[in-house]
Amino acid sequence: MTEVHVVRTISELRAHVRDWHKAGETVALVPTMGALHRGHLALVEEGLRQADRVMASIFVNPKQFAANEDFGAYPRQEADDIEKLRQAGADLAFVPGPQEMYRPGFATGVTVAGPAVQGLEDRFRPHFFGGVATVVAKLLIQSQCDVALFGEKDYQQLLVVKQMARDLDIPCRIIGCETVREADGLAMSSRNAYLSAEERRTASLIPAQLRFVADAVRAGEDVAQAIAKASAMLGEAGFVVDYFELRNGKTLAPNADPANPRRLLVAARLGRTRLIDNIAI
Ligand code: PAJ
Repeated sequence: MTEVHVVRTISELRAHVRDWHKAGETVALVPTMGALHRGHLALVEEGLRQADRVMASIFVNPKQFAANEDFGAYPRQEADDIEKLRQAGADLAFVPGPQEMYRPGFATGVTVAGPAVQGLEDRFRPHFFGGVATVVAKLLIQSQCDVALFGEKDYQQLLVVKQMARDLDIPCRIIGCETVREADGLAMSSRNAYLSAEERRTASLIPAQLRFVADAVRAGEDVAQAIAKASAMLGEAGFVVDYFELRNGKTLAPNADPANPRRLLVAARLGRTRLIDNIAI
């Protein structure tokens, strides 16, 4: 198994990428916040299919957390993450400190409209996509990667990143990868570690209710009724549902026309854990 270069500065990162590009190799980037699981590693594996070299960044981005959110509690396990990246075949881990990412006096932000303002995550986390778009724009520019991989797990984020890269003419291909799930269907997430054993069992109701509504929609049943039924089931099980909606799969606009690809998206809180998931219709 090859060695993983662990670099903490933008200049070291660029030196590696420059060497690879000089040798005619293409380079992929998998941006993460660490606490890596099989969902992240599937992005690394897809990166290896799409490019000659794969890098992952590990940075818990303060700009995408609100004051009342879990920035302090977010799981951090760098040594473990780097070992997982090594086993997956990644070439480099970029692990910048907060000062490297946001130099003193940092004063620029990237704001995205389009999919970022469709009333899903943005309604509950208004600070979120500005923070994501800013750090991902920086990572793409810092790394000069040819390809960057993102999970469909965070579907609205994927569309926001695509919009941002297109609008800013960043010469990087954005690739979306399917959600990796646990045996009971729960989408893998670093935040699943917050769930108690009982909550973990209950959490599988999220993918189950997504499937229930998806089946009903495909069978031509009333969408609003199916969603209301699924939301009530989640409520009875102890979830607080933030949203459960059928949207246009390309734009996330409401009133999804069956002629277009559609996406069913849900966010719900269980105790102190907020879970999000989605499936294609
Ligand atoms: P993080 O939650 O660590 O996720 C990093 C990447 O892994 C994202 O593209 C996310 O969609 C993907 N991912 C997470 N769980 C997945 C799963 N079960 N299956 C497939 N892909 C999965 O998302 C972020 O970090 C941050 O917002 C980031 C983009 C790094 C910007 O800070």
